[in-house]
Amino acid sequence: MSRPARSWPLPAQFLATAGAFLLGALIFAACGGATSDDATPAVAGTTEEAEDAAEGGNEEAGSVTETSAAPTEISFANDVQPVIEANCVSCHSGSGPGTTHLTMETAGSFADVAEFASFRIEDGQMPPWPLTGLHEVSYKYDLSMTDQEKATVIEWARSGAVLDVDAGTELTATAQAFPPIDADAVLYPDVPYEGSDKLDDYRCRVIDPELDEQKYVTALEIRPDETRVLHHALIFRAEADQRSVATQEVAADGQPGWNCQALPGLGGGTLEQIGSWAPGNGPVNLPEGSGLQMEAGDFFVIQWHYHYDGEAFPDNSGLAVEYASDEVIAAAGGSLDPVRNIILLGPVEIPCASFESGPLCDRDAAVARLATEFGTTAALIPEFINRECGVTPADFSQFTDGIASSSCEMDAPVGDVISIWPHLHELGTTYRLTLNPGTPDERVLIDIDKWNFEWQIAYYLDEPLEFTANDRLLLECGWDRALWPAGAESRYVVWAEGTQDEMCYNGIALR
Ligand code: HEC
Repeated sequence: MSRPARSWPLPAQFLATAGAFLLGALIFAACGGATSDDATPAVAGTTEEAEDAAEGGNEEAGSVTETSAAPTEISFANDVQPVIEANCVSCHSGSGPGTTHLTMETAGSFADVAEFASFRIEDGQMPPWPLTGLHEVSYKYDLSMTDQEKATVIEWARSGAVLDVDAGTELTATAQAFPPIDADAVLYPDVPYEGSDKLDDYRCRVIDPELDEQKYVTALEIRPDETRVLHHALIFRAEADQRSVATQEVAADGQPGWNCQALPGLGGGTLEQIGSWAPGNGPVNLPEGSGLQMEAGDFFVIQWHYHYDGEAFPDNSGLAVEYASDEVIAAAGGSLDPVRNIILLGPVEIPCASFESGPLCDRDAAVARLATEFGTTAALIPEFINRECGVTPADFSQFTDGIASSSCEMDAPVGDVISIWPHLHELGTTYRLTLNPGTPDERVLIDIDKWNFEWQIAYYLDEPLEFTANDRLLLECGWDRALWPAGAESRYVVWAEGTQDEMCYNGIALR
């Protein structure tokens, strides 16, 4: 693949018009493309891996039966209990984030749900750590289990979930999924949200830290209230001069806050995303010596995504904030390294499959819809991303079976990477971010082969990873139209902010 000249920063003109939609700094480079060649290695790689793992597992099982006369008995006390106490119990007991769904407080309560739990382990959804393991960097809060640990719990569950301890034996977490933050304040919107009659309600609310001087935020944590309806939250930083626009938005429909779509802007200005949360996600915890700089008057906007299956329970979730103390700032030499959030985008061109039809399967009609739905700028974004990534819609016309993918290669933003936030919507299936693709220094940073919209996780590097001036990034995204909601009108899907539209998006926090 040729290495085109650097093509960022973007023309200021585009940023000015697209600011409301494309938050913060955008970087691209022309190149890459969305040929099936690009997509194939990602899929083939992961399939082989899975097969290797499966073969390895069988061999191991084989050798065990050969050497021992009777099949090995898995003991709950010796084999299963330590695994679940280290990997599940901190979230699924006490007031943990998984408790409204399933509690594992005693051996008996785990045995009762053993089969269900083993399914979720087997399909990779629990513990909530969607990375496949192909990444070549190490992340904090790694919740993954080894193949051996998974196999132990699954086999024990399949062979009858027999307890060799008293059913009342308490399970005690031996590891915490996330260390708590040392909050200086817990802030709430001005009034709780009473809910609405929508199925999915995206509500933006101002959370005001009432800063009268500059401060550095070093950690942030959503404090969820009503997890029966709160689905996820995105945290944004807004500047003091965006306050009057926020006030107008708030007044618009008479309800607290305002209706806002997948990634909100604020009346023509940009909002910088600084964090995300879904039940079970950890805090934003910045490495020592760095902080999010907030000026006097700056404030937070949180987009709360409520999903009302039945009753719309009221919610009063808040945001815990930790600020750098004077001592911390002095120790860092008088100021902290400010954290920047950069956005990388890839193309989204997902044609209707050959078994779908309808007026919106026409791409022009689908793009025209964006203008009506989200405004004229929204309808320009797909073209803009395609141009920057060197592709045209024709490059995607071979996707006739509902499976689609895209990729874009670009210059890496220069700095020390703190965290990486992958983002697709509900049709998303695969996601990969690779540093210096096709070179001897190639390193996979993120690899997900079963995207789950429920889990909006930011991955925090163990050690900040340095991106230098000549580094390149390859962003690859995959979708499956089989995930299109049943009964909804088919349409050609392009890049836009609605949940039924799609994104191929990466947020990187650097210092
Ligand atoms: C970081 C916190 C966390 C950890 C660790 C965790 N879970 Fe969960 N779990 C959750 C949350 C939150 C939910 C509800 C959201 C969902 O289903 O994705 C959940 C849901 C589940 C469900 C589905 C419940 C339902 O009603 O659909 C099962 C089963 C489950 N977890 C089992 C496990 C097992 C087994 C482990 C350990 C191998 C584990 N979990 C580890 C947070 C966690």
